[in-house]
Order: sequence, then structure tokens, then C-alpha cells
Amino acid sequence: MRFSQQPSATLTPLDAVSDRYLADEKSLLAELGKAADVGESARQQIRNTAATLVRAVRRHAANEGGLDAFLQQYDLSSEEGVLLMCIAEALLRIPDADTADRLIADKITAASWKDHLGESDSLFVNASTWGLMLTGHLLKLDESTSSNPAKFLGKLASRAGEPVVRTAMRQAMRIMGHQFVMGRNIDEALDRSQKKQNRNFRYSFDMLGESALTSADAARYFDAYLAAIRSIGATHAGASDILSAPSISVKLSALHPRYSFTQHRRVMAELVPRLTDLAVAARDSGIALTVDAEEADRLELSLEIFRAAYSDARLAGYHGLGLAVQAYQRRAGDVIRFLADMAATAQRRIPVRLVKGAYWDSEIKRGQEQGLASYPVFTRKAHTDVSYLACARQLLAAGQNLYPQFATHNAHTLASVMHYAGTREDYEFQRLHGMGEELYEEVTDPRKFGRACRVYAPVGSHEDLLPYLVRRLLENGANTSFVNRILDPVVEVKDIVADPIELMRSRGGQPHSGIAAPADLFQPERRNSSGVNLADRSVLAGLLAAMDRAEGGARQAAPIVGGKEQRGAARASVNPADTSQVVGTCLEADAPLVDEAIARTVAAQPAWDLKTARERADILRKAADLVEEHAPELLALCIREAGKTLPDALSEVREAVDFIRYYASEAERLFGDPQVLPGPTGERNTLGLRGRGVFVCISPWNFPLAIFS
Ligand code: FAD
Ligand code: 2OP
Repeated sequence: MRFSQQPSATLTPLDAVSDRYLADEKSLLAELGKAADVGESARQQIRNTAATLVRAVRRHAANEGGLDAFLQQYDLSSEEGVLLMCIAEALLRIPDADTADRLIADKITAASWKDHLGESDSLFVNASTWGLMLTGHLLKLDESTSSNPAKFLGKLASRAGEPVVRTAMRQAMRIMGHQFVMGRNIDEALDRSQKKQNRNFRYSFDMLGESALTSADAARYFDAYLAAIRSIGATHAGASDILSAPSISVKLSALHPRYSFTQHRRVMAELVPRLTDLAVAARDSGIALTVDAEEADRLELSLEIFRAAYSDARLAGYHGLGLAVQAYQRRAGDVIRFLADMAATAQRRIPVRLVKGAYWDSEIKRGQEQGLASYPVFTRKAHTDVSYLACARQLLAAGQNLYPQFATHNAHTLASVMHYAGTREDYEFQRLHGMGEELYEEVTDPRKFGRACRVYAPVGSHEDLLPYLVRRLLENGANTSFVNRILDPVVEVKDIVADPIELMRSRGGQPHSGIAAPADLFQPERRNSSGVNLADRSVLAGLLAAMDRAEGGARQAAPIVGGKEQRGAARASVNPADTSQVVGTCLEADAPLVDEAIARTVAAQPAWDLKTARERADILRKAADLVEEHAPELLALCIREAGKTLPDALSEVREAVDFIRYYASEAERLFGDPQVLPGPTGERNTLGLRGRGVFVCISPWNFPLAIFS
């Protein structure tokens, strides 16, 4: 379903961001490739620098074998890796022990944890595996046990049972959490950041917690941010330069339980003051505040919120309010233009943290689920890398308007940025706590590269860790990911530092062939119902206008029997979400009328029976197309008559379309080719396929369209 407003003569920078929401990947890549390319010989130099870094990291990493080794062991594509995440996630969400036990019983019996025992040289892996299985402690194993761990394990598991395993799983979460979390509270994290080995780094503290579900959660997260800002400020009072002082990172989804495009008005009224208050507190504490980037469908909203806070008079002269930009989004360059434009107009610098993006899997999944015309993110790793490089140059070219912060653990990306920046020093690198240590040992070393690096340091307890942890596990476990490849000894250095521009060009910038466009998800069976990107402001405005036009005032619903509309006393039908709104009138059928309708319609049955499965499927598909064509009218009805929200109404209309197409394709699959046999109702009949006859349907109130269809 395509809706968009008439394009206005001039696009504002924010319109331009909307405009490229689902921009064509291939043509975009041609642009980005050019923007990122600094010529063959410079690209060779970049590869050489990157290779030097990779070798250095491999030398260090060979001696360490901490979590990285653990993650290599628990390959997320293995059954155990997946189970580990499934169970840990479930455990964190399930408050009662009985349900947790049943879940474990369901999942754990199938996993062959024992395959992992004794396989790695790293003590951490073995101990963690044992910890995972047993009590969660780093166990000291005696000779006989470590030589035959599976036997020992079998005995213990049958003796101790699932509750012990559950405890072990919880403990495993904590072990893993410790790797990625700087401290349980801000004081602990600040202390740790001041330890000798951390002194080379700047810090940005992130209070764990996101996607608040209730106002109480949002208030708790707000308070945690505020207290953290004050503690950081107190610890670093007198830091001369706001950009080198420690900072705070904030997720907007933590600050409001309805942070989504459909709640635009409320979010602007309620969330903007919260962000502004935090920014004012940060300004007063002499530190910077960065707004993290989250899901793509929140991007425009986040930009509007950011703009409103940034423009608040109380923040005049403050150069610390910054934003993260995700290079895997197709409109990353437009976002940077939007920010540069704003900074230039206000004459106030904006720190911009350039990341590749941490939500790729869910963006792909969502694009499919929502039946979008395409994806908001790139579909090949090299495309994201090229986009990052183009954005990096764009940031550096913005001069004093933006303060570039390059967040990456990828040696090639990092070497490219150093090359682009040349002798400039007005930028910094960033890494995540628990990742990229060895790489940045090299990069921050004044005798080697001597560049500044800030560490993003999550703070909190394991209850709030899960979403963050899952993103880190996906990132570390993905076989495309730099941090995963650098530790895999079979991947050669030259492949690790391969030039993404070349990789992209070698495939002509084509999207990934293994990632079908959302519309083709179920092909060749059937077309996916097409969705509407409600997060795209122009598409949403176009749809709302089409719904207005299609609504057509009050409705009169009445039975039509034998082509004749019935008359009589009709009752008012009201919107259940607003009972003062009369949708129209409805004349109910009574039993004699139903009998009459059935008698008349039965007469139509033989003609249907004579149709082949294919003919019937074609009729169904035509019906589905008509539903899509009339979507604005049906959406308006679902909203007014069933009291649905727009996203729910859209799901319902799409479900109706999917149902119809699904049964069309099933009919064809099962009874495909017309085999005409003599049947009870006519000369020609497909495998004796008789229609089921005439039905009386009482349409359910909650899905009046989809289930009826
Ligand atoms: P690389 O391994 O070189 O790249 C990984 C990237 O490639 C990921 O973005 C991944 O999604 C992408 N990718 C993988 N496969 C494909 C494919 N088939 N098609 C397209 N792309 C693909 N992330 C956020 O989203 N918001 C934030 O606010 C944020 N803040 C961060 C702050 C810091 C300091 C750091 C270091 C990271 C932050 N991140 C944030 C996480 C960041 O997005 C990831 O750590 C980052 O993607 C890793 O990039 P890399 O260059 O280290 O790794
Ligand atoms: C995340 O939360 C680091 O913001 C990034 O995954």
C-alpha cells in the first residue's frame, strides 16, 4: 500500500530523513562508495595500518582468553548458544520458580552442554561451563573430574535436578553481565574508571534500562540518570573541557513508556522536558550528554525530541548535547546533514557519535513483519561499513559544527578514520566496556597512535541488563562481526582488513540475495500483505488523508437478501473507544431472514462447485487485492467501529489479506491442477471438491474483518 503526501517544493532536512527511510540500496551505495573513496593508494595504506593493528590484537588476545573465548565456545549459531540466550532471557522475566523450572525442563534436556566441556584451553571457558551447569561458581576441578566431566555432570544433574540448573543459569547471566557492566552502581563504576589501568580512557556512563513499560519505570530510570549525572559531575568537578570530561549516555526509550511515533503529541509534551532537564543537569555538572540511537522507527521522533531539547533557551552556550547516528540506516547521511544544519543555525557544536548500529536483526525482522516496501538498514555487512566510512568523512567535513566521535571495534574502520582525519585532533574514538581493549591499547598508546578513546560503560544490575547483553552476544557471536573474526584463527589478516568499498563494488552494490524483500517473504507461494510504514511522517500523513476521504460519513448497515436491502428499525452503532461517536446504524438480521438468505444462496452453490481449485484461488486473490485497494476505508471502519488504534487496525486488515492469500495458495497446493471428474452437483468437478455450502457467520467483535474473512 503506497501512501505519501504530495512532495512539497523544498524538503526540510527532517523531510529528507523521512524521504530516504527505505531508499534503494544499490543506488545509495553508488553514492556512498564515491563519498568514502580516497583513492587506491590511500586505501592500501589504510589496509596496512589495519593489518598492523590486527596482528597486535592477535598477539595480546592469545594470552587472554576471557569472555571472547567463552563466546567463541558458545557459538550463537549452535544449539547451546541459542538455548543459553533463550533460557537466560526467560529466567530474567519469569518471577516464579515453578514456571521457570518447566521452561528449563522443556529446553535444557535437548542441549548437549557436555560437548563443550574440556574443549578449550581457556580456564575461563571451562570454569564458566561448569559454573553454568552447576552452581555458577568458578569451580576448581580435581583430576578425575576434569578428565571425565560428562560422567560427573550426568550424576550431578540427576541428583541436583533442574532448580540447581536454573540457579546456575542465573549465575551464568551474572558472570557474563560482569564482563559488559562497569559497576552495579555509579559509584562503583566511577571508582573503577579511575583505576590506574583505565586512566588512559575517557568514559561515558550508561545507566542500564530501556523500553520502560510503565511510568513508574520511566521515573526510576530518570532518577537514576539524574543521580548519575550529579555523581559524575561531583567526581570530575573542575574538568576544563566538557568534551574530554566523562559523560553520560541516555536512551529515550527508558524515559517514556509510550516512546513511539503513534504517541507523537504526548511524547513531545512529556519526554522533551525530561530530556531537557537531564541536559540542563549535565550542563550544570560540566559534563556532556549523548542520546543513544535505538530502533529505526523511532529515528524521526528522536530527532524532533533532540531538536526541541537542543533549542531550549536554558541550554544556550552548552556544547555537550549529542546524539548517536547509526550508519547501517540508509538515511544516516541525511541525519548528519540534519544535525549539521541545526548546529550551523544555532552556532552551537553538537557531538555526534557515529556507530554502525546494534539492532540489525530486529530491523530485518520488523521490516518483514510490517510488510515494508524495503528495509531501513543495509542488507550486506560491507554496505554498512561503506556507509560508515562515508558518514565519517561527512562528520569530519562539518568542521566546528559537529564534534565527531567514532565508535567502532573494527581495525579497518578505525584506520580509515585516522587516515581521513590526518593531523586533526578534534575528534575521539569510542569503544564498549568489555570489548576492543587490545585494539585501543594500541590506538591510545602515545608511543604508537596516541588517539583519544572513550569507553561506553554500562552501569546497573542484572535485572536491567538483558536487552543490552543480548545485543552484545549477537554482536560478538555473529560470524560477520569484526570482533568475532579477529579471534578466529582460520580467518587470515588480509581477509579481516579487506576493503569494504572493493567488496561492495565487486557485487555491484546489490542487496543480499539471501534476504528477500519483505513483500517476497513467502514467495513463491504468495505475496506478503503490504504494510504501511506508519513511522514515516509523509506516508502516515498520506494514509490519514486517504482514510478521511474514504470514511464517507455515517454508515447504514442492513442485510441484503436477493439483492434487496432490508428496511426496518435500525440501532445505533457506536465507537467502543468513544461511545459518544455514532458510527452509523445497523439493522440486524432475524432468524426468518437468515433462513431466506440461505435458501436463496444455496441456489448459487452448484456454480461454485464447478470451479477448479485454481479458479477459486484466483477469486480469493482478487478479493485480497480488493481489500488492499480499499484499505483506507477498512482501516477507518476498524478504528471507528471496533475502537482500534491505527497500528492494530492495520494489522487486522493485513491479517485479512494474508488469510485470503494463504488459503488461496493452500487450495492450489493441495488440489492444484484441474482434474475434472463427474461430481454429484454437475458435469465438471475438481476431485469431487464440493464447496462446504452456505454459512451463517457471527463475526467476532475483536477481529471483525480478519476472522470474518
Ligand atoms: P563491525 O563488526 O565492523 O560491524 C558490525 C555492524 O555490521 C553492525 O552494525 C551490524 O549490524 C552490521 N552488519 C552485520 N551484518 C550485516 C548485514 N548483512 N547487512 C548490513 N549490516 C550488517 N549502537 C546503537 O545502535 N546505538 C547506539 O547508541 C550505540 N552506541 C554505541 C556506543 C559505543 C561507544 C560503541 C562502541 C558502540 C555503540 N553501539 C551503538 C553499538 C554499535 O552499533 C556496535 O558496537 C557496532 O555495530 C559495532 O561496529 P564495529 O565497527 O565495531 O563492528
Ligand atoms: C546498545 O545499547 C551500545 O547503545 C548501544 O547496544
